[in-house]
Amino acid sequence: MSFERKNIEKMQGYAPGEQTGAANTIKLNTNENPYPPSPQVAEALKSINIAALRRYPSPMADSFREAASRLHNVSAEQIIPTNGGDELLRLILTTYVEQLDTIAFCKPSYSLYPVLAAIQGCRFKEISLNDDWSMPENFIEQLNKSAAKLLILVNPNAPTGALLRADYLAEIAEKFSGLVLIDEAYVDFVDPELNYDSISLINSHDNILILRTLSKAYSLAGLRFGYGIAAKSLIEPMMFKTRDSYNTDHIAQSLATAALDSCEYARENCVRIRQSREQLRADIEALGLTVPTSQSNFILCQVPESIGAEKLYLQLKQRNILVRYFEQDRLRDKLRISIGTDAENAALIAAIKELTQQ
Ligand SMILES: Cc1ncc(COP(=O)(O)O)c(C=O)c1O
Repeated sequence: MSFERKNIEKMQGYAPGEQTGAANTIKLNTNENPYPPSPQVAEALKSINIAALRRYPSPMADSFREAASRLHNVSAEQIIPTNGGDELLRLILTTYVEQLDTIAFCKPSYSLYPVLAAIQGCRFKEISLNDDWSMPENFIEQLNKSAAKLLILVNPNAPTGALLRADYLAEIAEKFSGLVLIDEAYVDFVDPELNYDSISLINSHDNILILRTLSKAYSLAGLRFGYGIAAKSLIEPMMFKTRDSYNTDHIAQSLATAALDSCEYARENCVRIRQSREQLRADIEALGLTVPTSQSNFILCQVPESIGAEKLYLQLKQRNILVRYFEQDRLRDKLRISIGTDAENAALIAAIKELTQQ
């Protein structure tokens, strides 16, 4: 006899990308940052007082909230710190989505969303992107027809790397009566010339929530720290009712605060990653694969049928190069490749060249 809730019994869990500690693996499969965290984060770690761990952490993560409010020019009450961005996603569903409600998201997008819907026991509606990964023209119409309570948009999109303009996000929020969560896990990799800025929207739209994470641009995927930014009225129910009282720990709070306080370091790494992204795109296209532009720290490459995406993924894996293959409609002929150091990218190119041109 199973003791699981019925929806849990029926569902499949999220399948994360492979993790390996092997030093000889080139790991380009989970969109981590190839560079280390900032020296200030290393200092903060060294100065952790072990005796402080006897006590519970700051329940509201006050120092972090202050640092985030300075960075984004919003009030600390508009910030909720979470155990990774993933915890924020779960909290938003717990707080705002009833079991009979529908949540909407694009297809393809982050494969955790349907899993979270299954855990919550709510319905979901996937709205297909066009073949060039742009939004369908009648997107808002389809959204309203779905009567969704919550729309989740990854921007820039994962796994496509495409970016929606902030004025389009504002239009969606105005024409849609539900909540709009903009998952900006990869926003720090957007070209600055595009002047993308959605933060100001939270002051004019009380149905917009923004997700940020320190896992990508700040090189802290192992720390598990993310946060939400929104109107105070959306943050408070999660801050005071639905999250665990101590959802982020003392060490994580100290290091995350140091990371935001030294954000210039992360910004410089993002510049390097953007340059490497453009080089990698050009190099991969020269080998006959198709790579649409990406505003993220990964690219989604289309592999010709004569080579085969799954086959190439497995062959690269045999050479200790991990990239991401999704067994999913419209993605079976593609590989998602995270941007590595220039040396890692060069090793990848050399391997693809050898495997595809023999
Ligand atoms: C689109 C998207 N959103 C949110 C997250 C959550 O990141 P984390 O829980 O590491 O902060 C990820 C992680 O890969 C992601 O790809």
